[in-house]
Amino acid sequence: MNTKKLTEKYIKFFQEKQHKQIPGASLIPENDPTVLFTTAGMHPLVPFLLGEKHPQGKRLISIQKCIRTGDIEEVGDNTHLTFFQMLGNWSLGDYWKKEAIEYSLEFLTSKKWLNLDKNKIAVSCFKGDKDVKKDEESAKIWESLGIPRKRIRFLGRKENWWGPAGKTGPCGPDTEMFYWADKTPTPEEFNTEDKRWVEIWNDVFMEYNKTEKGTYEPLKQKNVDTGMGVERTTAIINNKESVYEIEPLKTTIEQIQEMSEKKDQKAERIIADHLRAATHILGDKKNIRPSNTEQGYILRRLIRRAIRYGKMIGIKEEFTKTISEKIINTSEDQELKENKEFILTQLKKEEAKFSKTIERGLKEFKKISEKTKNIISGKDAFILFSTYGFPLEMTRELSKEQNLSVDEKEFQEEFKKHQDLSRTATQGKFKAGLADHSEEVTKLHTATHLLLAALRKVLGDHVIQKGSNITSERLRFDFSHPEKLTQEQIKEVEDMVNKKIQEDIPVKAEEMPLEEAKRQNAMGVFDSKYGDKVKVYKIGDFSAEICGGPHIKSTKDLGKFKILKEQSSSAGIRRIKATLE
Ligand code: ALA
Repeated sequence: MNTKKLTEKYIKFFQEKQHKQIPGASLIPENDPTVLFTTAGMHPLVPFLLGEKHPQGKRLISIQKCIRTGDIEEVGDNTHLTFFQMLGNWSLGDYWKKEAIEYSLEFLTSKKWLNLDKNKIAVSCFKGDKDVKKDEESAKIWESLGIPRKRIRFLGRKENWWGPAGKTGPCGPDTEMFYWADKTPTPEEFNTEDKRWVEIWNDVFMEYNKTEKGTYEPLKQKNVDTGMGVERTTAIINNKESVYEIEPLKTTIEQIQEMSEKKDQKAERIIADHLRAATHILGDKKNIRPSNTEQGYILRRLIRRAIRYGKMIGIKEEFTKTISEKIINTSEDQELKENKEFILTQLKKEEAKFSKTIERGLKEFKKISEKTKNIISGKDAFILFSTYGFPLEMTRELSKEQNLSVDEKEFQEEFKKHQDLSRTATQGKFKAGLADHSEEVTKLHTATHLLLAALRKVLGDHVIQKGSNITSERLRFDFSHPEKLTQEQIKEVEDMVNKKIQEDIPVKAEEMPLEEAKRQNAMGVFDSKYGDKVKVYKIGDFSAEICGGPHIKSTKDLGKFKILKEQSSSAGIRRIKATLE
């Protein structure tokens, strides 16, 4: 059974249980400054976990492409990937622990579905702490379904708690399913340290909202959010020990082996994983390019790390483009095919750029490391970064191989002096995160809708949204327009938004079929990502946008709108930064 077949089965199973499929979200989240990439299927569902009504109902499923770089060091083992697909089923205030666990076990073990051996399954549950009690309820359900106590372990918050990956938002204890992925007999007891027990599915019981104060309060409704790793589960169904033995990774590994001089399993796996992730990031409609900030920086790190490992195993030719091309050609992902030229051009450019400096940079690193006893200075690390294009993480990794560390504090100081590497990228913000649904962000989100409507009135209907990023301090909005705005235009837009704020217009959500939303000229960002039924937020007859929310109730609460900056974002795209005073 390949990944496609697994996905089809999953969808069919949950459709039989009255779930509706919703489209996966973009790999680059909209309106969410706290996270650089979509790390789980729940990103676009946060408003609905918080209690908004979802147009498709209370039982949902999705297939979600995810990027997680938090575990990048683990890539190379049998199971970790920076890019993977996740299958998820949700209950939005509908079914709870019993049904969720029953569904999971039925899908995994029933002959009609995956037909996996129940005797090879172990589970973990939340052991409880000062804030939330032990999840004995889930353990009892597992036991009643035939999972013996010896295969049930209680673990803490690090292992058995999901969310909020940002500061606030929906979260809760989870129960994780593991499968014995080894040819040797299944041990009687579940030892969580043994990596042959592979985690394949996670059922999260989201009943809490983490507040700004760090307390946990009950959500309006109890939700279930689950995530099954497609690559891992496919490997298991096919009795493979590693995700690199299934497609598309298997072909990529073979391709790498043909090009390289030395065999090195870890290096081959890192290259295969990172180039697949880079291909998907570049394939996103947002047209992220390798750069020194935010998503572009992660992309750069992935490509450059792949190139370094390529050198290590003696790949002589240009290879990132060749490998990516095969991934695209053999994939069924339409987005990759549509953006093929962009993906390949960017990889070629980045490889050409880094190839020029990597050899000299490695020599420089050797020199530096030979003169260094324990700690590579931040100044040296910064030279490696600025002159030879070594991301800090690469210097850290090279140093670790020589039992050295890097003075990262000094690196940051150097870097601050030069001010051109985003703090986000170096401080691990990319690990994971959820939208911050604070009042400030919500207000700026509503202001963004007013801004788009005003821009269209002042500049014309060619203006459409190209990107949005909101923090509690400011909104940042990218839109299509060929030239710089004049001072008069900026003032006109600002005045129009402020006039609408003063008019005290209620902000109302309506649910309707996608076709109807289009008929009513509601603005939308990514048509292909919507389901059949959508939610349209209207601000009087001034603005209508397909959007998941949240928004404030009435425009009068917004205060005063002020445009801080208008600048170019990329060819044909302008960027406005604005705030509310
Ligand atoms: N959101 C949960 C996870 O990613 C299901 O594991």
